[in-house]
Amino acid sequence: MTTRAVVVGLGHYLPERVVPNSEFEASLDTSDQWIRSRSGIERRHFAAEGETTSDLATQAAKKALRSAGLEANDLDAIVLATSTADLTFPSAATMVQSAIGMTRGFAFDVQAVCAGFVYAMANANALIVSGQAKRVMVIGAETFSRIMDWTDRSTCVLFGDGAGAVILEAQDGVGDKTDRGILSVDLNSDGQYRDILYVDGGVSTHTTGYLRMQGKEVFRHAVEKLAKTATTAMEKIDLSNDEVDWIVPHQANIRIIQGTAKKLGLSMDHVVVTVQDHGNTSAASIPLALSVGVERGQIKTGDVVVTEAIGGGLAWGAVVLRW
Ligand code: UT7
Repeated sequence: MTTRAVVVGLGHYLPERVVPNSEFEASLDTSDQWIRSRSGIERRHFAAEGETTSDLATQAAKKALRSAGLEANDLDAIVLATSTADLTFPSAATMVQSAIGMTRGFAFDVQAVCAGFVYAMANANALIVSGQAKRVMVIGAETFSRIMDWTDRSTCVLFGDGAGAVILEAQDGVGDKTDRGILSVDLNSDGQYRDILYVDGGVSTHTTGYLRMQGKEVFRHAVEKLAKTATTAMEKIDLSNDEVDWIVPHQANIRIIQGTAKKLGLSMDHVVVTVQDHGNTSAASIPLALSVGVERGQIKTGDVVVTEAIGGGLAWGAVVLRW
């Protein structure tokens, strides 16, 4: 018998304010046409003044609990992936813990930028498989609008705010790829690339800072590293591409998503795409896409889902699961 971390609930939340590409045309030398054709993004959501990452995460968490038919105290842990926590400390995860009325267990943040949700899923899986927790809520939540340089057209048109949450539960499996739940994980980072995607401020430099990105460089690494990590995770459980029902990629750029699918030998009919509506929401993008994918009727119980992401660090990775 093998313990598997199986998804039993999910939900997402997007701030009310929707910002179409055309809104940037007034203040920047850019166009809806450029943004669409280079990134696939058509609109994004921005959090309201005073609305924080833990506020978005709490809404997604409440929806995930409702969809699972669980109470907050049925959870043993919350693992929250973010690079834009409300405060330096405490963690956004403990804020969500309190906001949903969870008075037991433990909660902590994971910071791996756009790969954060994949890293958080890997952590939650390890907690469940090692018997330290039976039910773990994994959240990706971000307010990247707070770290945008609104004068930098090469970055500020690309990002958005949002949150998504899944609940993983320990269930018995037989130990092969027919099991439901997380089947394999592959994590990587390489700090020598820290300068191609970073925020130029932080606690120990007394500033908040703004996101800086050498887009072309990141793009160059993305397709190759995402295809490699997804392939490695699939190989770990002897899974071939014709057994994959859905790729749920980090939603940064439609051209990266298409290039990665092509390298994996999968048509776009097998890819959940939300980048047009959400922009790049960093650690929130995969749980948002999972939740929207289920709502659209794309992802169904029993489907094999491959998630993959890359971001600042560089940090990248993949999680394969059977829904
Ligand atoms: O989530 C973390 C991972 N992040 C990513 O995966 C992002 C990876 N990178 C990308 O998605 C793409 O590189 C971008 C969308 C950021 C840029 O697309 P690109 O095709 O690589 O364009 P580029 O950076 O080479 O820029 C092409 C031109 C430049 O002008 P010149 O030098 O050719 O005259 C830019 O100055 O487009 C210009 N440009 C813009 N023009 C209009 C850059 N941003 C804009 C803009 N509007 N917003």
